[in-house]
Amino acid sequence: MTVPAAGKEAADIFALYSRAVPDSLATLTQEDPLIRMSAAPFTGIEAMMDPIAETIAGIYQTGRTTGDSGSSHRIFPFAISAEEGAFLLSVIAGDPKVSKTLEVGCAYGLSSLHICAGIRGRSGASHTIIDPFQTLQWDGAGIKNLRSCGVDFFHLIEEKSEFALPKLLEKREGQFDFIFIDGYHAFDHVLLDCFYANRLLKVGGYLVFDDLGWLSVSGAVSFLLKYPCYAVHGSVKKTPKTFWEAAALRFLMPLARCANAAGLFPSRSYRNTFYEMIALKKITEDKRSGSWHEDPF
Ligand SMILES: C[S@@+](CC[C@H](N)C(=O)[O-])C[C@H]1O[C@@H](n2cnc3c(N)ncnc32)[C@H](O)[C@@H]1O
Repeated sequence: MTVPAAGKEAADIFALYSRAVPDSLATLTQEDPLIRMSAAPFTGIEAMMDPIAETIAGIYQTGRTTGDSGSSHRIFPFAISAEEGAFLLSVIAGDPKVSKTLEVGCAYGLSSLHICAGIRGRSGASHTIIDPFQTLQWDGAGIKNLRSCGVDFFHLIEEKSEFALPKLLEKREGQFDFIFIDGYHAFDHVLLDCFYANRLLKVGGYLVFDDLGWLSVSGAVSFLLKYPCYAVHGSVKKTPKTFWEAAALRFLMPLARCANAAGLFPSRSYRNTFYEMIALKKITEDKRSGSWHEDPF
C-alpha cells in the first residue's frame, strides 16, 4: 500500500512537502503568497510554529500515534505516506477556491490533517469525514490528532459511506470542492463511493483516490475517466521499497508508457503498476444521458 516514512528525520519529511508540488502548480505557488504559504508550510522555522505541521512531522518521524485510550498505534500500512500527504496539500494549495472538503476513510487522521492544513484559514473552510470505525477500530486517534492541533472546522460522520453519502447527496448536489476516497477498497464499494462523489463534487472540483495499486481502485478510476467530465490533474508514483524495485521501475516505466500510448498496455494496468495516488478534476458538468454507456473494462 503506502511506503512508511517512519524513522526519517523531520527535515527530510519537511523537504518532501516542497518537492511534491507538481510542476503545473509550481508557478502558481511561487506567485501567490497565500498559496505559497499553504503549499509549503512545513519548511524551516514555520514548521516549528505550525501545530498541524508539527503533529504530522511527529507522527511520520515515529511512525506511531496515540488514541483516546492512551495506547500507541503503528500508522503503517494504513496511513498515506508523507509524499502522498504533500500531494493532497499541493492540490488544495494550488486552487484557492477549495474550501469545502470531504473524505471517506480517516483511520489515524494523516489524510485529514493534510486536507485541513490545506483549507485552514480559507473563508467557509469545512472538512467532512466519513469513517464508521473511527472509535471502534482506530481508537479515536484521527479526531484526537485534529483536535490536538486546534482544527475545529471538521465534522465526523461515524457511519459507513454507503449510508452516509446518499444522505449528504439528499441535502445538496455539488456541495464539495475536493473529495478524497480512501475507505473500503472492494471494487463495488469504491464504485459506489465514486457514484456519490461524482454527484457531490462541484464542477472545477477534485476527486482524489489512494491505493491505485489495488486493482479494485484502478478499475473504478479507469471507469470514471471514461466520463467526459473528468481529466487527470496529477498523480503520485509508487515509491520503490528496494534498490532493485527502483531499478526495475526506472527501466520499465518508459517502455510501459510507450506501450500504453500505442494501446498495447491498458491504462488501468499502467496506473495500477506505477502509481499510488491520483487526482481527477471535474472539468465540466456531468452531461451523460441515461443512454450513455462505455465499456468499463
Ligand atoms: C486505508 S484506511 C484510511 C487511511 C487514511 N486515509 C489515512 O491517510 O491515514 C481505510 C479507512 O476506511 C474506513 N472504512 C472501512 N469501511 C468503510 C466504509 N464502509 N465506509 C467508509 N469508510 C470505511 C476504515 O475505518 C479506515 O479508516
